Parts: sequence; structure tokens; C-alpha cells
Amino acid sequence: MVINMKYLLLLVLILNAALVSAESRTGLASTLIKEWHSSVDTTKCKDFRYPSYAPSLPRGEKIYKSNCASCHGEIPKANNESIRKVSPELQFESLCGGSTDPKHNFSKTLDVAQRWDVLMYYRANSLGYFKAGSPELAKMDAIFGGNCAVCHGTRGQGDGNLHKSLYPPPANFTMAKRLYTRTDERLFNELTHGIPWTAMPAWKNRYDFDKQIYFDEAMIWNLVRYVRQFGFSQEVDRLDTGREKLETYKKSVGLK
Ligand code: HEC
Ligand code: HEC
Repeated sequence: MVINMKYLLLLVLILNAALVSAESRTGLASTLIKEWHSSVDTTKCKDFRYPSYAPSLPRGEKIYKSNCASCHGEIPKANNESIRKVSPELQFESLCGGSTDPKHNFSKTLDVAQRWDVLMYYRANSLGYFKAGSPELAKMDAIFGGNCAVCHGTRGQGDGNLHKSLYPPPANFTMAKRLYTRTDERLFNELTHGIPWTAMPAWKNRYDFDKQIYFDEAMIWNLVRYVRQFGFSQEVDRLDTGREKLETYKKSVGLK
């Protein structure tokens, strides 16, 4: 009888644990997945889709010069505060029928990939970014490598050493349909305060003894910039270089 009671108690405990964790897990998962839903109005922006590759800053710069500089200036305004309050996908919407100004609608003149290229060029210059090959980028690589990569992976793909044991898993920063729904301010707040009920720690006022780095507000903005850089590329696409070479060759031999 005593043994029976023990088994019964064990059974009740196991069942209980299973129920609770199943419930909280599905509850958490569903709110997170819902948050990834795009809030772009596709009746205004009919051809909306997330880019299937990292948008390119060099390509965006060219498009910017001929389509945007006339109104926004030779280089996009640095430190544009209002841009931090709007998610990239809604800024995209404003370039494709979402703006009240018909001159701001580029859905006929630029294809989806070109609009992403130019928007990422605009955003990167406004928020600020670390130039490829610069000592600033190397320093940020080390800070991210020492504090974040254990979960998020060195390439930001959410595949760090700890990722298999975490639920929800660490964010994959190359996932456009996740990161492009977030405003810069939201990323800043998540980094500052952490994300409750997940492994994402609060970084505000921490100190990295190894690298002697203090996580103040300026450093947290630098981390936002760094995380954003997984969402675009600073390299010139090899296909573009190929196309340009082909054009110069055609010209040189008098082909149209
Ligand atoms: C005819 C002038 C004009 C052209 C051309 C133009 N814009 Fe704009 N853009 C504006 C105006 C006006 C606003 C609204 C400014 C504001 O929000 O106060 C704006 C706002 C924006 C915003 C939102 C900025 C913010 O602070 O939230 C983005 C992003 C943007 N433009 C990107 C572009 C890009 C990229 C191009 C080129 C493909 C472009 N614009 C071309 C006039 C223009
Ligand atoms: C112990 C593991 C862990 C470490 C270390 C960690 N993170 Fe995270 N981080 C997570 C998890 C897990 C999530 C996803 C939480 C969720 O899905 O709500 C996350 C989410 C985030 C997000 C929010 C993404 C979004 O979609 O809103 C940002 C930004 C972020 N991490 C940046 C960083 C940076 C930068 C560092 C280093 C300074 C860091 N994390 C260190 C586990 C970690």
C-alpha cells in the first residue's frame, strides 16, 4: 500500500510537470510566432516580400544617388531619430504606396530587391554601421564573440554552442522576416532589459572584465548597429561585377 501511494504520487507529479510545461511552452511559442507576423498592408504594397538574400549597400548607394538624393540629400541624414521608431518592413511599405506622397512610391520604378538595397543603405547610414575591414568592426566582432556568440553564433544565425538547450532558441539575426519587424528602439530595449522568460540577459550596466568593456547606453546602441549588420551586406555582388565587366566588354567591341 505504501509503495502504491509512492507510485501514485510520482505519477501525479510527472503528469503535472508535463501539463504545465506543455502549456507554458505552447503559450510562449504562439505569442512569439504571432509577433513575427508582418504588419505590412499588402493592399497598398502589392508585391511586398522579404528579401531572399542580404540586401547590398554598394548597390543601394547607386540607387540612392539617382532616386532619393534629390530630396534626402547627398548622403542620408546620420542620427535620424525618427527612423529608429519604425520597423524596416514599414519603411519599405512607405516606398511602395504606403506614403501619402505619390512621389514616394517606387513600386513602378524599382523592383523589390532594389527597394530593399536602397532602404538598407538609407537605414545603415542613418543609424550608423561598422565599415567592413575597419578596426571598429574588429572590436565589435570581439565583443560579440565574447558575450553573445555562445548563444547567437558568430555569424548571428542563432547556432551558438548553447542553442540546442534553450527554448525559445536564440534569435537568428539573418532571418529577415523576424528582424525586419523589429524597430531599432525595440532591439535597444531588449538588449538593455533582457527578454523575460527567455535566456536573453539584460546587458545594461554589465562589465566585461576580459575586454574591459562597460555596457553603457552607447555600447548598447553599438550592439544594435552590429546586430543590424547581419541583415545586409557590404560586399559588391559578384554577379554585379560580372554584369559590369560584360557591359564594358560589349561597349569595347561595339555591341549594344
Ligand atoms: C520627392 C521627395 C522624396 C524622394 C525622391 C524620396 N523621399 Fe523619402 N521621404 C520624403 C519625405 C517628404 C519624407 C517624410 C519625412 C518625414 O517623415 O518627416 C520621406 C521619408 C522617408 C523615410 C522615412 C524616414 C523616417 O524618418 O522615418 C524613408 C526610409 C525614406 N523616405 C526613404 C527614401 C528612399 C530610400 C528614397 C529613394 C528610393 C526616397 N526616400 C526618396 C521625400 C522623398
Ligand atoms: C544565454 C544566451 C544568450 C546570450 C549570451 C545572448 N542572448 Fe540574445 N537572445 C537569446 C535568446 C534565447 C533570444 C530569443 C528570445 C525570444 O525569442 O524572445 C535572444 C534575443 C535577442 C535579441 C532580440 C531579437 C528580436 O527578434 O527581437 C537581440 C537583439 C539579442 N538577443 C542580442 C544579443 C546580444 C547583442 C548579445 C550579446 C551582448 C546577446 N543577445 C546575448 C539568448 C542569448
